[in-house]
Amino acid sequence: MNQRLLVSLISLCLFVMVYLLVTSIINRKELESLKAHLKNDTDTESEHFELAESMGNVQRYFNKLWFAGNNANWELASFYVHEIEEVFESIEGAQVVDEGKDISALVKMMAEPGIKSLEEGIGQVDTSAFKENYMIMMNACNSCHAVAGHAFIQIKLPETPAFDNQVY
Ligand code: HEC
Repeated sequence: MNQRLLVSLISLCLFVMVYLLVTSIINRKELESLKAHLKNDTDTESEHFELAESMGNVQRYFNKLWFAGNNANWELASFYVHEIEEVFESIEGAQVVDEGKDISALVKMMAEPGIKSLEEGIGQVDTSAFKENYMIMMNACNSCHAVAGHAFIQIKLPETPAFDNQVY
């Protein structure tokens, strides 16, 4: 075998080896970044806050609150105001961002004042203060839905209790 052929064979072998080494490193790197990506996805999934579910609870308590307040059942009414407040607090604490909107900050800004007035209005002799505060809170629900891009979710005064198996 002549020397030039030998040299070019050796350099070809070297080239192939280096090529295989480099591609295997790249593949391993890709695999690692893919793994990290998948881990991130599952992490954010487990931290995902079910806002609609919390809002569904708020809606249920808010419905019951109307009937409790209208019957001057203040013990029950303050129970529901407290439950609504707790749901809102959990949303505030969870730093919820929905479609680019800071829902936690919006709750603090738009829901807290309404809750405070409801708390203060409860226990008054006639139900008119309660009704007034209830409607202020209801407007806050709807304003926030509008600001958060959900104007199609509109809350109105209930006519019949959502549950008929409870004494208000
Ligand atoms: C941050 C402002 C904000 C406030 C205050 C707020 N909401 Fe919501 N609400 C939202 C957003 C945003 C959604 C949509 C959630 C989603 O996209 O998953 C929603 C969804 C809902 C839904 C739909 C879920 C379902 O089960 O049908 C209801 C009902 C609801 N809200 C009721 C209320 C009521 C009642 C109040 C007031 C007592 C209220 N919300 C106050 C932002 C707000």
